[in-house]
Amino acid sequence: MDHFLYRDGALHAEDVPVSDIAKAVGTPFYVYSTATLLRHFHLFDDALDGLDHLVCYAMKAASNQAILKTLAQAGAGMDVVSGGEYRRAKAAGVPGDRIVFSGVGKTAAEIRLALEGGIRQFNVESEPEMEVLNATAVAMGKVAPITIRVNPDVDAKTHAKIATGKSENKFGIPIARAREVYALAASLPGLEVIGIDVHIGSQLTDLAPFELAYQKVAELTGVLRADGHTIRRLDLGGGLGIPYARDNQAPPLPVDYGALVKRTLGHLGCEIEIEPGRLIAGNAGLMVSEVIYLKSGEGRDFLIIDGAMNDLIRPAMYEAYHDIIPVTEPAPGVEQVKYDIVGPVCESGDTFAKQRMMPPVAAGALVAFRSAGAYGAVMSSEYNSRPLIPEVLVNKDQFAVIRRRPTFDEMINRDTIPEWL
Ligand code: LLP
Repeated sequence: MDHFLYRDGALHAEDVPVSDIAKAVGTPFYVYSTATLLRHFHLFDDALDGLDHLVCYAMKAASNQAILKTLAQAGAGMDVVSGGEYRRAKAAGVPGDRIVFSGVGKTAAEIRLALEGGIRQFNVESEPEMEVLNATAVAMGKVAPITIRVNPDVDAKTHAKIATGKSENKFGIPIARAREVYALAASLPGLEVIGIDVHIGSQLTDLAPFELAYQKVAELTGVLRADGHTIRRLDLGGGLGIPYARDNQAPPLPVDYGALVKRTLGHLGCEIEIEPGRLIAGNAGLMVSEVIYLKSGEGRDFLIIDGAMNDLIRPAMYEAYHDIIPVTEPAPGVEQVKYDIVGPVCESGDTFAKQRMMPPVAAGALVAFRSAGAYGAVMSSEYNSRPLIPEVLVNKDQFAVIRRRPTFDEMINRDTIPEWL
């Protein structure tokens, strides 16, 4: 459920007409709903009620500081995967002891940054990383709390580009080698082993792969404890999917996921961390764009809009489906038409939808891409020298620009010309 609904014939973000925002900031833009962000955070938080737990929002999904602050004030921690994300989380006021550092390629500089600023734990993904983390911590006179990310070799049954839990993926250490890697960690003076980490993929629409992975984690907890390790925290990753198409089968709810966590791991007495990104931010954001031209091709009509693949890359990159709806509510019973919905970028990949049935719209109309809050703005680029589009946050009847559109001068003046030219 989200807070983007038609009221009096006009699409609203909470209590604000989307067209008012378009007038204020121009198109295209992203708009997020505070109520939806908070609702989704609380769904997870409540689902783990009864367990000692922390919901660490995977900020890679949408990392604007206003979004981070909204969630942090509600009690969320953050899952970061780069020095940039760590700095952003700190800038948004998130304390170090609520920041978890994930990622396969943490550099020594990033590790130092987090050890200096404070960190809840590092999720270590390999032995070489473990050595660098140990050496860095020892040199700083610190002890780094760690979990080790295990790869449970489970098929997450999601898009190949976002599956992470199979042995052929680059993530974590094979679960079969966990005992020897934990033994190595325990021998290093700069590390304190506190738990286990697992994350098997993103946009999972079935609980079965989670169940398989978490059973393996439960078993491993017993084995590692018997080896003498302290396992008091389990980081279970993110990955619960969201409904993108309104007619497709709804993925499991956070409450069912929470019940699964309790069933498979609740008896271990561990503190539970989860790292949801998409389910918190995905349906809390729209990308709004204006139709520039309606062009009739051979046997098909193209809707050419001012948003492009550089603004929302998911359809081009993952063949992702986003619901695209008119901002002015269509008249009841209006006959749907078929469009190819495309952006102005000079490649055929700049196609959002092919032969999509939707109500007819004219040049100048606004359209909204639903479920664009996660992996939308954060994956945008300036390809074709198109400035990054603004982000807006709505809270009831108020809205604020939380990242403004840069001017062309700002964009162009970032280049520097060598003296020989
Ligand atoms: N934790 C780790 C270690 C991750 O790698 C990820 C996502 C998450 C948590 C959050 O997963 P979520 O709850 O959002 O599914 N750009 C792609 C998605 C990439 C996901 C990468 N890792 C997309 O647009 O579909």
